[in-house]
Amino acid sequence: MAHIPVLLHEAIEGMTLKPDDVVVDATLGSGGHAKAIAETLSSQGRLIGIDADRDALERARNTLASVAPKIDLVESNYRHLQTVLATLGVDRIDKALFDLGLSSVQLDESDRGFSFQRDTPLSMTLTVDPVEDEVTAYDVINNWSEQTLADIIHGFGEERFAKRIARAIIAKREQSPIESTFKLRDVIADAIPKRFHRRGHHPATKTFQAIRIAVNDELGAIDEGVSAAWKYLVPGGRIAVITFHSLEDRIVKRLFREQVRQHAGRLPAKRPITPSAEELAQNPRARSAKLRIIEKSAYRPHPYPTEI
Ligand SMILES: C[S@@+](CC[C@H](N)C(=O)[O-])C[C@H]1O[C@@H](n2cnc3c(N)ncnc32)[C@H](O)[C@@H]1O
Repeated sequence: MAHIPVLLHEAIEGMTLKPDDVVVDATLGSGGHAKAIAETLSSQGRLIGIDADRDALERARNTLASVAPKIDLVESNYRHLQTVLATLGVDRIDKALFDLGLSSVQLDESDRGFSFQRDTPLSMTLTVDPVEDEVTAYDVINNWSEQTLADIIHGFGEERFAKRIARAIIAKREQSPIESTFKLRDVIADAIPKRFHRRGHHPATKTFQAIRIAVNDELGAIDEGVSAAWKYLVPGGRIAVITFHSLEDRIVKRLFREQVRQHAGRLPAKRPITPSAEELAQNPRARSAKLRIIEKSAYRPHPYPTEI
């Protein structure tokens, strides 16, 4: 299924884009948000688009083929934003957007093991060709300890049966390696008592999310990526982040709160912005989305105020 950009109008409006802005789209995906951003920029503006997934970059390249501003598309993890900007010779940005998680195309069509709806090898890396020492879902499932697995599944999946699932994975892999999404899916489903299987929610959903977060250190990447964007942001500049689950949202909330506490930023909207009923009717995948925006203060108080 093609990816439908989530909270598109809200994110574009919330960033208060100006024609000559330098904008980072840290999560290009299929380029839906990037196209709307690019259309508000003049030829004086600049869009820097990043994605760790080379296939996504290719899709975005097609989406952005006909738009005006200077566009740089970079294959990288956004946690390396500082290096990306330094390499491009960019020392300040006006706006940044992070639309977290995966796109519908990755979930529905990729062969990297993100979804238990398709039987594929267990990779779950954002990169198309993981380098030799890159952690994959196969490594996590077949080599990591029972305790670590339980911690991940509980911490990143908020799964109450984490211990049972971890135990079942260990028991299964002692017979033979767990190599595919279907094998893993079945081990998880069998580990959760039938009476706790909920209609419309596959019992493996939370565990798959947890493994993917661990493989890509997704929470660490958000922290580093958003912090780097903040560092490069001009006074009056804005960062918009769209999150899809409470773990992501908590990190963003904490990062933003800290800046507000230090009077270094303000929140244009006190509460996170959520999709309208109309958007939800068209795109049920938007149901858990939350948009948070922060604006960097134009005036930075001296860090060591002198006493009067
Ligand atoms: C929800 S999709 C973005 C969709 C996009 N806004 C659109 O409208 O088409 C998230 C994208 O971010 C990428 N991504 C996720 N984590 C990343 C990271 N740490 N570094 C770089 N790209 C990342 C994924 O590969 C995916 O393509």
